[in-house]
Amino acid sequence: MARLFLAGGSGFIGSAFTRQALAVGHSVQALCRTERSAAAVRALGAQPIMGDLLEPGAWQSQAAQAEIVLHFAQPQTFGGRIGRARALRYQADRQIMDRNLLSPLQGSAVQRIIYVSGTSYYGQQDLPPKDESAKPNPRGWGPYIVKALQQLEAFRAAGLPIITVFPASVYGAGSWYADILASLKAGKTQLTLAHRDPTLATVHVEDCARAILHLLTCAPIGERYIICDDRPPKYSEILAQSAQALNVPLRTRAVPLWLGRIIAGPVITDAYDAHLSNARLRSTGFRFQFPTIEQGIPDAVRTWLAAQNHR
Ligand SMILES: NC(=O)c1ccc[n+]([C@@H]2O[C@H](COP(=O)([O-])OP(=O)(O)OC[C@H]3O[C@@H](n4cnc5c(N)ncnc54)[C@H](OP(=O)(O)O)[C@@H]3O)[C@@H](O)[C@H]2O)c1
Repeated sequence: MARLFLAGGSGFIGSAFTRQALAVGHSVQALCRTERSAAAVRALGAQPIMGDLLEPGAWQSQAAQAEIVLHFAQPQTFGGRIGRARALRYQADRQIMDRNLLSPLQGSAVQRIIYVSGTSYYGQQDLPPKDESAKPNPRGWGPYIVKALQQLEAFRAAGLPIITVFPASVYGAGSWYADILASLKAGKTQLTLAHRDPTLATVHVEDCARAILHLLTCAPIGERYIICDDRPPKYSEILAQSAQALNVPLRTRAVPLWLGRIIAGPVITDAYDAHLSNARLRSTGFRFQFPTIEQGIPDAVRTWLAAQNHR
């Protein structure tokens, strides 16, 4: 069992990972920038280390003493309108955060670094499903993570033992999907784009965390893994399955792209089809608990409802 240092351990995927990593006996230190996040990771059983990725600090030497470092942290990507200015701030901050975490690991005894990126980097991919060797066609948030990935490549070329994972759209009781569930439950009309029903690659948050835990020990250094389930659904299917699991009616209103861009912003409305393959992940022996949204959404909705009842 290994000593893990996590950035973003209080987040949606990071907290699911923390719970699973502790359950199999790893020790977890999690970087926290607020007392609220520290209390959350402490409640999971991890040790909070105070610090902000945007600022160098004593936390960097703690990271350098770990055996494995996992980087789940990012500036927030959901909630409210996402305009170009917000996306450019994300792009700049993400590079600073990565540099502050990765630079002190050079020359350290850290054996593995798991860097969590996203499939928006691969962006629009048509059928047949594409794997990690596909030519990237960044869309949505994708164009704003390219610079961070180029910087990451320089760290990798300089000898850092990096494995990069690209989760698809991660659904569960948090992040963007919790916003959709809250909106459905409140009876709100769901906005969709007229003449556009994108195919989203998806993965249940517990499977995403399990896949990363699985790759922790078996992935070769330098490798990339797309983390998506077996069948990418249409966005309309996600809405319909979610409404059904919540037992609420689904009301949608299709708006033209220009109006969608005004309401939600150009990043969210840059809809694309993500036909991606999990063949490389599956070739490592990984098995999904929720291979498609048909199995996963009822579980995610149950977990979200239980969390609402405890608030
Ligand atoms: N969610 C998805 O659908 C999805 C899909 C594909 C890829 N991903 C990728 O997966 C990773 C994790 O995503 P997520 O959805 O779990 O993110 P999240 O819920 O937004 O969590 C982000 C985490 O980063 C931390 N953080 C943000 N700024 C920080 C800073 N300056 N210093 C220290 N910590 C900071 C947050 O801490 P606080 O608790 O203090 O806020 C939080 O723990 C990201 O790289 C994301 O791009 C996510």
